[in-house]
Amino acid sequence: MKVFIHAFGCQMNKLDAELALSHLARAGYARCDSPEEADLVLYNTCSVREHAEERVYSNVGKLKFLKRRRPDVVIGILGCMAQKDQGRIFERLPHVDLVCGTREFPRIVELVEQARRRRGVLACGEAGAVREERDVRHRAHPFQDFITIMRGCDNYCAYCIVPYVRGREVSRPMEEIVDEARRLTDDGVREITLLGQNVNSYGLSFGRPGALVELLERVAAAPGLARLRFVTSHPKDMTRDILQAMRDLPAVCEHLHMPPQSGSDRVLKAMNRRYTAAQYRDLAALARDIVPGLALAGDFIVGFPGETEAEFEETAALVRELRFQNAFVFKYSPRPGTAAARLPDDVPEAEKRRRNQVLLGIQSRVNLEENARAIGREVEVLVEGPSPRDPRRLIGRARTNQIVVFEGAPALAGRLVRVRIESSTALTLAGRLMPDAGATLT
Ligand code: SAH
Ligand code: SF4
Ligand code: F3S
Repeated sequence: MKVFIHAFGCQMNKLDAELALSHLARAGYARCDSPEEADLVLYNTCSVREHAEERVYSNVGKLKFLKRRRPDVVIGILGCMAQKDQGRIFERLPHVDLVCGTREFPRIVELVEQARRRRGVLACGEAGAVREERDVRHRAHPFQDFITIMRGCDNYCAYCIVPYVRGREVSRPMEEIVDEARRLTDDGVREITLLGQNVNSYGLSFGRPGALVELLERVAAAPGLARLRFVTSHPKDMTRDILQAMRDLPAVCEHLHMPPQSGSDRVLKAMNRRYTAAQYRDLAALARDIVPGLALAGDFIVGFPGETEAEFEETAALVRELRFQNAFVFKYSPRPGTAAARLPDDVPEAEKRRRNQVLLGIQSRVNLEENARAIGREVEVLVEGPSPRDPRRLIGRARTNQIVVFEGAPALAGRLVRVRIESSTALTLAGRLMPDAGATLT
């Protein structure tokens, strides 16, 4: 039997797709690359913005013809949109056989068997922790991977659907995570990113707030691990300890994803973010003080209900001032059932688009300037392999996450090397591999 699986949305959703695949592989399924060849077609879905849901509806809508030609193909919708829309999915997409929420996909094999016998299987229970029995060989990259360290979210930011579709925040036991890290490094992984909606509160659900520091220490000790990252950090839960661990543990990269969302105190309060713009600025300054060379990344929402031009300008000022490495900008999208959905969505779409463009414009100038400043510097690169655009060159990432391209032997894939930067664009750095024995670090 063959399975096609595609994940929309965040990195955690992509990892959940690999987890589902681990279960299916044990039951004899092999992965394939298109729905046409598959006996089972699964989409792991996202609800974070309306646009994300529209993409699922349009992708799965097209499978109507496949189902007509081959009625025995099982089509399943998993994940956040499944949890949110449940049985309504069968009304909009009558050719779907299975709807499986965010906490039932470890039962995927059994649910698919049920759906083969009778169509319209709905499994969106809310109880219980997800068993993380992952086969680490199922992963997207040979040298880098992710580990889910916690699920759900208790923060209830006013605009956000995640707490409703992913449930209460639950941290995974530390032993389990450390064991998964070791299995990954045993299988050749050199870089691990720890994932959670709010990793700074790791441990809170088992009575040990602040356990992220110990977790970083223990995962960093996995043999052969060269790099460790963690996302996402909520500013309200960031501590000095975590920043010091970033500085003191050589594997932990000086790269912090800590979304401000807005630069206006009125908007931040309405978003229920529980910090002010001044507190964010202080925290960014403290982080840069403790962790030399820190690259800061963040998410922003434009056009939140009632956001005035002046309030937007406060966000623009923050983006200009803090010189992020990456700014992900989203147009506000009302999500049914959230607190903000009760407020009028009163910023016109064209104005949201304009504000979005303004922030991206500022950020792109920052990237151009900062990357130009890297010229002449030597950076440590974890080599991914030949560049897909130009196979004569290698591609990899700096510790601060910029893409770096350079000429070198394909056998360097998976190694840490030093590259001297010679040119740059807003998105990439290009340079020369440093020769001699010292060039290849490990
Ligand atoms: N837990 C993470 C990420 C959550 S979703 C965090 O707290 O940072 C990723 C991003 O999507 C958020 O940071 C936010 O910027 C954006 N987002 C969430 N809900 C949204 C909505 N309703 N409309 C627009 N953007 C949204
Ligand atoms: Fe959503 Fe806020 Fe939780 Fe992030 S912290 S997932 S934005 S509720
Ligand atoms: Fe992720 Fe989207 Fe769900 S961002 S947690 S897949 S709503």
